[in-house]
Amino acid sequence: MNNSSFLQALSREKNDVPPIWFMRQAGRYLPEYQTIRKNYKNFLDMCKEPRTCAELALQPIERFDLDASILFSDILTIPDAFNLGLAFHEGEGPKFSNPISTPQDIARLEDFQIEKLSYVYKAVEETKKILPATLPLIGFCGSPWTLAAYSIEGGGSKDFAKTKKFISDHPEAVKDYLEIITDACFQYLKQQVLSGVNALQIFDSWADLLNPNDLETYSLKYTRKLARKLKEDVVTSKTPIILFEKAPQKKISDILFEDLSCISLHWSESIESVSENLKGQFAIQGNLNPLFLLESDEIIQAETKKICGAMKNFPGFIFNLGHGITPDIKPEKVRGHD
Ligand code: CP3
Repeated sequence: MNNSSFLQALSREKNDVPPIWFMRQAGRYLPEYQTIRKNYKNFLDMCKEPRTCAELALQPIERFDLDASILFSDILTIPDAFNLGLAFHEGEGPKFSNPISTPQDIARLEDFQIEKLSYVYKAVEETKKILPATLPLIGFCGSPWTLAAYSIEGGGSKDFAKTKKFISDHPEAVKDYLEIITDACFQYLKQQVLSGVNALQIFDSWADLLNPNDLETYSLKYTRKLARKLKEDVVTSKTPIILFEKAPQKKISDILFEDLSCISLHWSESIESVSENLKGQFAIQGNLNPLFLLESDEIIQAETKKICGAMKNFPGFIFNLGHGITPDIKPEKVRGHD
């Protein structure tokens, strides 16, 4: 594992060729994924089969020349473990049948039971068994804020109006829920590390719902707390943490904090200007707009070269997309480096 170019980059070592992996590298754009997916009525049932998860995580590794693998699971396993009743309906995305609707729903929550997610830790173990021994595995969770937003909204939404109203009506109850989720995320990630993951990524996919003040109050405060807990624990203190933060309302350099190793940059950011401020402090992962993968090979190559050229002398660059691969992308458009 010491020779992993991905882990070296997370320690801000310079590589001649940047390591590469893709957010959502396992998923619906791969025909071999669809073949397995057909056997399950519900996506969540598939996530509860550790051997299947391992097989799905391996699929992009077998197809492309990638430098890291990511656990096959979902960020919504934690709210599901709090009995919010998660289901994924075809074409509709995630839905909770029992969302957080009142402060009493938060007060009544059962304690987090870490063993409810043992299917995830088993998936880590099974994945490690079949991955090449030198290939690192990334574990992950949603940020406390992103998980709270889904829990209150009851699923995905364009404007998250219900969540915004709930935080303005019941700010203290939301903070109680964020504390509960932060602790659950810590225990969950620790268990992933104990089961074999080599790095961790936190997805704050819904950070852009918040104004700059609320971003601090409801999101960053809890992500920082989660990262601090991980750094203070002997099991997880050395595991690098990557943060994906979709927050155009704030400068990346004002978001980052010392417990992180790396920022996974959204495609809307200029990687060149962000890198000038972060050199020597953080690794950077990113940030090709996945929409470019719908374009010609010439355009994909030109845009990739632009990013790699700008980051050539940056110690700790990992090439990735600036958000997840979408199901409409042809796998032939995703190619490893030479
Ligand atoms: O290679 C990988 O990255 C696979 C593991 C993975 C999945 N989801 C599998 C998945 C990871 C890391 C995620 C993270 C995730 N899940 C995020 C954060 C990243 C981001 O995109 O911002 C979020 C917000 C979710 C929540 C979620 N899960 C949504 C909104 C959906 C529906 C998406 C849609 O377009 O319908 C999912 C389902 C999901 N998670 C699928 C996969 C492969 C598709 C399920 C299917 O086959 O029906």
